[in-house]
Amino acid sequence: MVEFTFSIESPSTARADMLVLPVFEGPQPGPGVKDADGIDLMALYGEAKLSGKRDETLLVPNPGVAGLKARSVLLVGLGPRVKVTSDTLRRAIGKAAPLIAKRERVATTLAQAAGSSEDAAQAVVEGLLLGSYRFDRYKSHSNDDARDRPALTNVEILGKSRWDRRKLKGSISRGQIVADAVAWARDLVNTPALDCTPDYLAMQAQAMAKEVGLGCKIWSEADLKRGGFGGILGVGQGSVNPPRLIELSYAGARNAQPIALTGKGISFDSGGLSIKDATGMEWMKADMAGAAAMLATMRALGRLKPKLNVIAAIPSSENMPSGSAIRPGDVLRHRGGKTSEVLNTDAEGRLVLADALAYLSERKPKVIIDAATLTGACMIALGEDVFGVLGNDRRVVRDLLAAAAACGEPGWELPMHEPYRQLIDSTVADVKNVGKRWGGAITAALFLAEFVDGTPWAHLDIAGPGFAENAKDYAPKGGTGVPVRTLVRYLLDQAEAKPAGGRRRTQR
Ligand code: BES
Ligand code: ZN
Ligand code: MN
Repeated sequence: MVEFTFSIESPSTARADMLVLPVFEGPQPGPGVKDADGIDLMALYGEAKLSGKRDETLLVPNPGVAGLKARSVLLVGLGPRVKVTSDTLRRAIGKAAPLIAKRERVATTLAQAAGSSEDAAQAVVEGLLLGSYRFDRYKSHSNDDARDRPALTNVEILGKSRWDRRKLKGSISRGQIVADAVAWARDLVNTPALDCTPDYLAMQAQAMAKEVGLGCKIWSEADLKRGGFGGILGVGQGSVNPPRLIELSYAGARNAQPIALTGKGISFDSGGLSIKDATGMEWMKADMAGAAAMLATMRALGRLKPKLNVIAAIPSSENMPSGSAIRPGDVLRHRGGKTSEVLNTDAEGRLVLADALAYLSERKPKVIIDAATLTGACMIALGEDVFGVLGNDRRVVRDLLAAAAACGEPGWELPMHEPYRQLIDSTVADVKNVGKRWGGAITAALFLAEFVDGTPWAHLDIAGPGFAENAKDYAPKGGTGVPVRTLVRYLLDQAEAKPAGGRRRTQR
């Protein structure tokens, strides 16, 4: 565990093994570089070697400068000063994190380099923790290298004297809680489907709920049969690992209408009988990234304790081909009675989500949000970094996009183009589970919309950013934990917002 502290002391006197200081493009010294008690670190260490461009770092040992306590200084390039946001800080320290984590005590002025001190401090904490995340549970320790092991125990966030100490401590602790939740989600996504079955997910959720004080109910296969969850059951019926529905609740406000969450929890997506090819399956242990993100969001809520009520119902099935699997042409009856014709067993995410959405809408929540690695089409449209946002309510979509932008998880809206609804008309059932090739992310969302019963709802298609095929600034290859930060931010914003139904609602 890394301990974070906040202080307003000068970087020169901070008792640290390493000082991490920002440099803007130019190079232009960032906070603490020139004013460290009159010691001009920039002049000492290589004006010539450093331009301050993004991604540039320069590690320099302290040659014994009088008055400078730190043993070394890491200068981190941030790019042009006017373009620096809190996310620039998250990325910069995230990228340098593996190097930083080798030191025991670190102090940094990075949080002083961008606009809002609170967002900046939170971003620095998140970047450092997320950038040093690793998943080595499945590595044998025989060829462990001690020099690779993280040594970091203390991080001092250096701020300005006029900063509100109490608020900054809040930001730092929020950053820790969010980063912990993101790492927890990444672990679930990275765990191979051999081990991460629907029941494993349910057991992890149950243990987590107990740890942070959430209500939890696990629906077994028999419970799901009694409850009429034909989508979750149908998708799971080809697997030896039975499906589950994970229900969680967080109560932080007395009688407020809850916000409802769900996420796609396909523990492995082979495509079923409409089977994928070999490369198409390589990442399909990550097809529960939406579920992991929602579970992790609930974990963060349990620890952040905002004044809000939140319920979650997360479906998990394994999509396998076998003699007992559903066939193209089969019709499933979902929770609430609507039916769907399964023409492609690889469009399975919408089938499990349909049940969960119908179930949540029975509870009359204020809003429903789902996250799902739903369509390759969304990846074609927006690439690997940006998630799609679609919904039936302008305000929910707008608030989610705002939260996403504020926390450095980019999202972009795709239209719920009504004329495409007819593409999923079925001749034998209420709806069919595939449209045509074009507009696949939209027809998938139009399918989901059939099951929310008019509840304000938004859907995040995270097929791209849910996992990374290559390492990113603050995420190694594998599960990313997207969109946990967006969801936590959105929910905290909702808790702060004045009673709904008032002024905000009329603005739409
Ligand atoms: N889990 C996949 C979507 C996916 C693909 C996520 C690649 C991440 C990376 C989903 O279940 C799926 O197979 N979707 C199909 C739908 C199609 C059959 C209508 C797709 O997108 O090809
Ligand atoms: Zn899938
Ligand atoms: Mn699929």
